[in-house]
Amino acid sequence: GIRRLNKLLITNARLVNEGETRDADVLIEGERISRIEASITPSDDIEVIDAAGRLLMPGMIDDQVHFREPGLTNKGDLATESAAAVAGGITSFMDMPNVNPQTTTRQALADKYALAEHRCTANYGFYLGATNRNIEEIKALGVGEACGIKVFMGASTGDMLVDDSAALERIFEYAPVMVVTHCEHSPTIWDNEAKARAEYGDAVPMSEHPAIRSAAACLKSSSMAVEMARRFDALLHVLHLTTAVEMALFSKAHRSEKRITAEVCVHHLWFDESRYEDLGTRIKCNPAIKAASDRAALVKAVNEGRIDVIATDHAPHTSSEKKQSYFKAPAGLPLVQHALLVLFDLADRGEISRELIVERACHAPADLFGVQERGYVREGWYADLVIVDPDRPFRVEKSNLLCKCHWSPFEDHEFSSTIDTTIVNGEVVYRDGELTRNIAGQRLEFDRAR
Ligand code: DOR
Repeated sequence: GIRRLNKLLITNARLVNEGETRDADVLIEGERISRIEASITPSDDIEVIDAAGRLLMPGMIDDQVHFREPGLTNKGDLATESAAAVAGGITSFMDMPNVNPQTTTRQALADKYALAEHRCTANYGFYLGATNRNIEEIKALGVGEACGIKVFMGASTGDMLVDDSAALERIFEYAPVMVVTHCEHSPTIWDNEAKARAEYGDAVPMSEHPAIRSAAACLKSSSMAVEMARRFDALLHVLHLTTAVEMALFSKAHRSEKRITAEVCVHHLWFDESRYEDLGTRIKCNPAIKAASDRAALVKAVNEGRIDVIATDHAPHTSSEKKQSYFKAPAGLPLVQHALLVLFDLADRGEISRELIVERACHAPADLFGVQERGYVREGWYADLVIVDPDRPFRVEKSNLLCKCHWSPFEDHEFSSTIDTTIVNGEVVYRDGELTRNIAGQRLEFDRAR
């Protein structure tokens, strides 16, 4: 359903945007923001949402999700997971290529965009996946066609390891857009797995995961990525960092001055290895959740600017798949519905500020990927907005989960904030705990060449 009126006014908001928080009213006309002022007087032809002092911010732009379509739709699909995303205040997402068939050709990419049309509640962009042999596809890619080139420099879900060093060099040399990498050195991990098997057989305890998918494996691979990016002057964004030792690879400079940037995911900012005991394979993910000291270093790096972006790596698997033993349980967890709530809890604890949440989860991904006219609350830009109630707790229960896999590592946790309202392209898509069923997502436009 299209909104009855073309104009929507949000009044009495505390606007968190561009490094500051201030009182503001925001007028939306059609799909864009038309005015931002201290006070805007409503008229009869304007629908009003009274934010009543709640926080208003740009919707989160999640630069790393696995929505599982095409081919793995028993775990999730573009419609279900994008709906869960807006319930979490995410208004744009960038989806990974480890689907079936893999998104490793321009044709597969075009097919995926066709599949997404009119089905996504949030705005969407897709990565082209690299392989050991698809350099011609990468070279032919147009800048607006993909958000980036995804390179699994470590093996994970989906059998997409790129481990031929000559192939890797050509990717860094010729990628027309940003290269984004999963960095874990697979031979190191295989070695660690063999040692664990020798000790425990198949009954490897979950607590061994960070020793198997070790900090050394991460560092070896991320160092290699950074070295290659420097050598070929590529644009590199290293995904889901998890360790203190890797932080020295990244500069504190503002993103506008860097060609090598870094991302952390909410689960690595929230959990540490002490939680393997109660959550087990539910929090099995690649790279692994590591020590409390690593988590603290990641929080520090977010504050310092060594880490530029906060994302989710939303990676749903069915609960029966996740209930298997260590080696069999797939890695990944569903996160989009609760990512911003995690960040606002961290803000309540004083670990990050609200302005920094907006900086790392909204502004930075927009800038780094050249997302056109989104990621900031600005006159003339798209109205992708979220109202957060910082004074109303939200308890995660099976009954309020929206992801297709229908489980969450946060079940029974009470967050201190609630996502009140989410607006995508000027359409209210989520309000008061309910999806409105407006399918307002559009294809993202990218404009950042290497
Ligand atoms: O935990 C993970 N799950 N890490 C990845 O790299 C892939 C993802 C998935 O697709 O399941």
